[in-house]
Amino acid sequence: MIKVRKIGFEFPDDIDPHWKRDEPEWSHMVNGASLTMPYLEPFLIDSIREALETIDDPAVHDAARGFNAQEGQHFRQHRRYNELLKAKGYPELAAIEDEMQASYDRMRARRSLQFRMAYTAGFESMTLGVTAWLVERRLSLFGGADPRVSSFILWHFVEEAEHKRVAFDVYQAACPGYFMRAVGVFAGALHLMWLSRRGYVAMLKKDGLWWNWRSRLRLWKRVLEFGSYAAPFMLRSLSPRHDPALEPDLPWVRAWIDGYARQTTTDRVPLVDTRSADIPPPFAEVAT
Ligand SMILES: [Fe+2]
Ligand SMILES: [Fe+2]
Repeated sequence: MIKVRKIGFEFPDDIDPHWKRDEPEWSHMVNGASLTMPYLEPFLIDSIREALETIDDPAVHDAARGFNAQEGQHFRQHRRYNELLKAKGYPELAAIEDEMQASYDRMRARRSLQFRMAYTAGFESMTLGVTAWLVERRLSLFGGADPRVSSFILWHFVEEAEHKRVAFDVYQAACPGYFMRAVGVFAGALHLMWLSRRGYVAMLKKDGLWWNWRSRLRLWKRVLEFGSYAAPFMLRSLSPRHDPALEPDLPWVRAWIDGYARQTTTDRVPLVDTRSADIPPPFAEVAT
């Protein structure tokens, strides 16, 4: 069962877009990715919905409903965060958002359902690498950072791991085919990287950091780190025998999901302690 969690993340005015103060580059990489979500995730949802029209299996329908509900929560929360980014010094992001919308509109109009589902499954295989990166390197990526943004991002990727198999299963049930699935791995990952880059380059330019070599080195370090985590997942997903259900669950992710389920109230926003030496899941009673 895929659980829908409606969490009241708050993005008040005192959140700094440089939410990890010593690393504006990493902050903006996340901000750039966030900017894409209200355009990407509705596209994933629509592709899944259309594919379901051709599938009878009730188990696939159930899982896909959970997937769509989780993705719906993700992009709505990201949209609120993105409004904050625009209001806090980066109004030029609005023009990039228009380009993102146009890009997904073109794909909806011109690309086959099989391509759109392959893109969806391909993108989802990359997100598993991102979850591993965020969780395994959490001290470096979130240590000392604003817990409100850190917790929001970690929640999103916990749920990405939770619904890891759904897009793949829908693709296999609705429009299977190895060649297109492999195309989708590259299309989903590279398109998203390109769109995210549009956002973070604009923000770093606005900060006057884009032509600063120290800043560029810090950025490249994080981009390479991202690649080192995402690439193995993408390569494995290129195997003809690939099944994302076989990707092991990370203990931290499992502990987050179990901890959330054991809470007596869901009113509380699960904020991670970014000052902790371990950054455990944000539920006092569970340890990793
Ligand atoms: Fe998502
Ligand atoms: Fe997802």
